[in-house]
Amino acid sequence: MRRKLIAGNWKMHLGPRAGAELARTVARMVSGGPDSERAGAPPMWKPPHVVLCPPFVTLAAVAEVLRGSTVGLGAQDLHWERQGAFTGEVSGEMLVELGCRYVIVGHSERRKLFGETDEMVGRKVRAALEVGLTPIVCVGETLAEREAEQTKAVVERQLSAVYGTLAPPAAAGTVVAYEPVWAIGTGRNATPAQAVDVHTHARAVLAGAVGANEARELRILYGGSVNAANAAELLAEHEIDGALVGGASLKADEFGRLITIGAEAMAKERL
Ligand code: PGA
Repeated sequence: MRRKLIAGNWKMHLGPRAGAELARTVARMVSGGPDSERAGAPPMWKPPHVVLCPPFVTLAAVAEVLRGSTVGLGAQDLHWERQGAFTGEVSGEMLVELGCRYVIVGHSERRKLFGETDEMVGRKVRAALEVGLTPIVCVGETLAEREAEQTKAVVERQLSAVYGTLAPPAAAGTVVAYEPVWAIGTGRNATPAQAVDVHTHARAVLAGAVGANEARELRILYGGSVNAANAAELLAEHEIDGALVGGASLKADEFGRLITIGAEAMAKERL
């Protein structure tokens, strides 16, 4: 049984003050408070897992707000070493100390704009697991790769670089996010059929790398222009275990609707 997970990737938005305010609203929505009623929460409220991933400098303020709430805290990146002369970098150990339980690894913006390679992503995932963080491992093809019918090969390469070196029990403690690069921040999401096609392939690749049982338990999120208008049809798919949300996670109302849609999808699937 894979409970749906809705993760907000705030990217380089919201400093400590604004971040704490949004986190407070989200925590109320998830706990079934007044805001969740406004967002149309059903009477038997069983929300999806919700995780917020603010920028590094906002983590402490959001951690404070989320203390005692079921909303998880995640960072957007980490370094693979525990400490050392790595100016500007942040280690997994530091993130744990701040209260993080999750960390996004290998987001396409980091791969494209900051030169992260498959090998670096693999090292970061191992570093996250070593300190008990759940890595949200991002994979996905560019438009050119999709047009060249390379989507599955690219996703397979990206996954193998990470999971080929992980022991099965460790792999079970990870989350995968399929984020087609052409869908990120473009307003053009993958169709449910396109996402399911890649998720199914990804799960088969994972089964080959870490075993069928572990792969069955692992959550595969979809990310790329998810919003309140398209989330219901995406999350209705059994193979889509949640969403990694950028732009729409910055607006309390819209993120609240996504949480409600996640809860409705789980209720339909009896998760
Ligand atoms: P988007 O971003 O929802 O704004 O497309 C998703 C992501 O980059 O994780």
